[in-house]
Amino acid sequence: MERTYIAQTLHQVGKSVKIFGRIQTLRDHGKVWFIDIADETAVVQAVSRQKFTVNPQDILEIEGVVKKRPENLVNKDIKTGEIEIEVKSLRIISKSQTSPIPLEGDGRDIDEDLRLKYRYLDLRRPRLKNNLKLRHKMLIFMRQFLVSRGFIEIETPILTKATPEGARDFVVPSRLQPGKFYALPQSPQQYKQLLMVADFEKYFQIARCFRDEDPRSDRAYGEFSQLDIEMAYVTQEDILTITEQLFKEITEKVFKKKVYKFPFPRITHDEAIRKYGADKFDLRTEKSPDVLAFAFVVDFPLFEKTEEQAISPSHHPFTAPKEEDIELLAKNPMKVRSYQHDLVCNGLEVGGGSIRISDPNIQRKIFKILGHKDKEIEEKFGHLLTAFKYGVPPHGGIAPGIERLLMVATGEENTREVTAFPVSGSGQTSVMDAPSEIDEEVLKEYKLKKL
Ligand code: AMO
Repeated sequence: MERTYIAQTLHQVGKSVKIFGRIQTLRDHGKVWFIDIADETAVVQAVSRQKFTVNPQDILEIEGVVKKRPENLVNKDIKTGEIEIEVKSLRIISKSQTSPIPLEGDGRDIDEDLRLKYRYLDLRRPRLKNNLKLRHKMLIFMRQFLVSRGFIEIETPILTKATPEGARDFVVPSRLQPGKFYALPQSPQQYKQLLMVADFEKYFQIARCFRDEDPRSDRAYGEFSQLDIEMAYVTQEDILTITEQLFKEITEKVFKKKVYKFPFPRITHDEAIRKYGADKFDLRTEKSPDVLAFAFVVDFPLFEKTEEQAISPSHHPFTAPKEEDIELLAKNPMKVRSYQHDLVCNGLEVGGGSIRISDPNIQRKIFKILGHKDKEIEEKFGHLLTAFKYGVPPHGGIAPGIERLLMVATGEENTREVTAFPVSGSGQTSVMDAPSEIDEEVLKEYKLKKL
């Protein structure tokens, strides 16, 4: 007999079916025995007069007959509540030990390290399942939206060179060139700009980014994902327009929520600081969970000062200064405004981007203001400056953060709740024990020594 998915059993009244699934609950009523069994599609009640030695979470194959339940026993809480399966035969496919973490409830009060160690059990929780399904739907929607507008998805390297996005890099030793290292990309920023030089006018990628920085609830340690977008021959307004259309549609069609204001308000950095005291803010007057209040922040200063009073880019060093402020670069760089744009939503920064510098002379000037010497500029960014010598279209883009968007959509308070196998706050991977020691033999191959 072919497998019937549990949601389909509803349409098979009177027929014999074979179902597969995992036991959710068992109820012993003396003469009859109830097994709630679920597969990917639904849960159903199976009824047996014979007892079996099974436990919750065991995986079963059941053959039985679909029976309509009497009116007074219909369970309105589940999809298959009008029927039940009368068990004819039952086979245990795989037994489950008792779970080391409770699988009922939302799991929020369980020690997180334990949840992550047994993440494959934790993920059986409907809350996390729904978060990952929403993530999947959002990614599919993003792809379809962009592809239908002529964007093409291009993957860029994971083994690459250090990229300056303001965090520490993760590094990977080279075996073929001992003593040298790759860096994992903090974002595909320079590659997407190189793709513009290569005349791919509309690029996107669901990109994995790697940053070694102190974690916060909205800042994943280790890795996270961005919807990375870049376009040639565009103005800042073009980028904002397509971004707000995408997020209006995602809010309505995927999240089934409302946007607070459309078009999204554009607020200058100055005004944001004056009104809200920060460059991210919540426009909602009431904290209504079904409303997403997006806004763009524009006219950022090009530079900011670090705690040590060093001058550093407010976004990244490839962000273009406003034309009217270019003459201030030499005299008063802290007064220069830029073409950076941030997307904020319900108090979080959910995306950032800019129009880029496409004039190699201005790019060089910016690197110098940031304190790089000529030799260092050549070593770190020579490839980009060389590429720009071959004709570069004006270009710009944005990179909304996947986890932060899902946080605002689901009301979750941590990026880990919307990630399948997150790295813990202390830098430990889920399930697999990394980082971990490496064999002496392997170290030798890389010509690395233990401290
Ligand atoms: P930026 O560094 O501003 O820009 O990142 C863009 C967006 O990515 C998300 N984000 C994160 N999400 C979770 N955990 C993190 N550690 C984390 N860091 C960043 C945020 C943020 O707004 N290359 C540029 C984009 C561009 O200029 O086009 C960049 O990466 O939502």
